[in-house]
Amino acid sequence: MATQTGITIAGPNQPYTVVDTIPRPTVGPKQALVKSLYVGLNPVEPFMQHSGILIAEFPAVIGSDTTAVVLEAGAECTKLRRGDYVFGCAPVGLNRFSPFQETFLVDEAWVFKKTARVGLEEGSTVGAGSLTAGLALIDGLRLQLPSPGTAAPRRDSWVVVMGGSGTVGQYAVQIAKLCGYKVLASCSPSKAEIARKAGADATFDNRAPLDEQLGIIERVTGGGQFRHVVDASAQAFELSIKALETIAREEDKFFATVDDWSEMNVSDSINVYRVQFGTLGRLEQPLGKHVTGVIAELVAAFEGHIETGALRPLDYQLVPGAGWDRIMESIADLEAGKFTKKPVVKVQEE
Ligand SMILES: NC(=O)c1ccc[n+]([C@@H]2O[C@H](COP(=O)([O-])OP(=O)(O)OC[C@H]3O[C@@H](n4cnc5c(N)ncnc54)[C@H](OP(=O)(O)O)[C@@H]3O)[C@@H](O)[C@H]2O)c1
Repeated sequence: MATQTGITIAGPNQPYTVVDTIPRPTVGPKQALVKSLYVGLNPVEPFMQHSGILIAEFPAVIGSDTTAVVLEAGAECTKLRRGDYVFGCAPVGLNRFSPFQETFLVDEAWVFKKTARVGLEEGSTVGAGSLTAGLALIDGLRLQLPSPGTAAPRRDSWVVVMGGSGTVGQYAVQIAKLCGYKVLASCSPSKAEIARKAGADATFDNRAPLDEQLGIIERVTGGGQFRHVVDASAQAFELSIKALETIAREEDKFFATVDDWSEMNVSDSINVYRVQFGTLGRLEQPLGKHVTGVIAELVAAFEGHIETGALRPLDYQLVPGAGWDRIMESIADLEAGKFTKKPVVKVQEE
């Protein structure tokens, strides 16, 4: 059996180890074997390493956002060929699909095919953020995406995005705008420009006292012209529900959140959707099947919106150097809050 190098974790809260004994995966008919070129780092990496949650097998290979080049395409692939570049987010926790190793598998329906529109480095800022936000806003809040190249009707209604400066939040802002809504986003005042650049019409301080934040939401939305709130920070449950219960004046209220782990009690008057990106590729589970189907639709739609420039990769911080050590150090830096933009690490030369 052919083996390759990469980083593994022996069990929950075990350190990363560089090894050269990882089995090289074999392609399925609609999959491609790709070479890992860049990875974008997300909070899910330290979360998985410390908790072991979402990991299906140990020793585990992890990683989420990636840019890679196709080495071999499966017999039934219609989108990908050898030499194509791809970017996106791995179905987390499944070794054979994880980018912290020399080569791994992608399913062609869940991965973006790169064009000249997107740089190799910035490609690895797109997957987890856009698809998590897509699940929240399209599957959860039930917003209608326009077809690529067409403009959505302008809606006289706000979408409130909690955490509009983060990876998921910046895409939530972009997608809500794409769907024709006005966007009010929360963030640290020092990051207001990031949310504005993503398209937010107005921002407010996510660390201000709750009543102050509610007051701003009421004032900016013209006394409650909204029914959609998305918490892209996993920190704003109470504020989100209070805003919907006490300020929103529109019927049919929707709350979508990236927090799929906390206990939440919400009255029946609000539709609640909790994003579970981690079920991507778990086709044996009903939810995994649903999420995987939605993600395939989102990838196809977002490829079109990226091509027209309506959906844009994020600003990022490229870590100097390349290789497994840089990835391990950068995850520690991410945990220590050292990055001001999304970190991208070069894995290896093409
Ligand atoms: N359920 C799922 O399937 C799923 C999928 C992807 C991500 N997630 C989770 O979603 C969350 C966001 O991920 P990300 O990659 O976007 O992270 P990120 O880039 O670090 O962004 C975090 C966001 O949260 C805001 N924030 C941080 N602390 C806050 C606080 N105390 N009060 C209010 N806002 C606060 C930040 O705002 P400022 O920096 O401007 O203060 C920023 O906008 C993470 O918890 C991640 O694990 C879940």
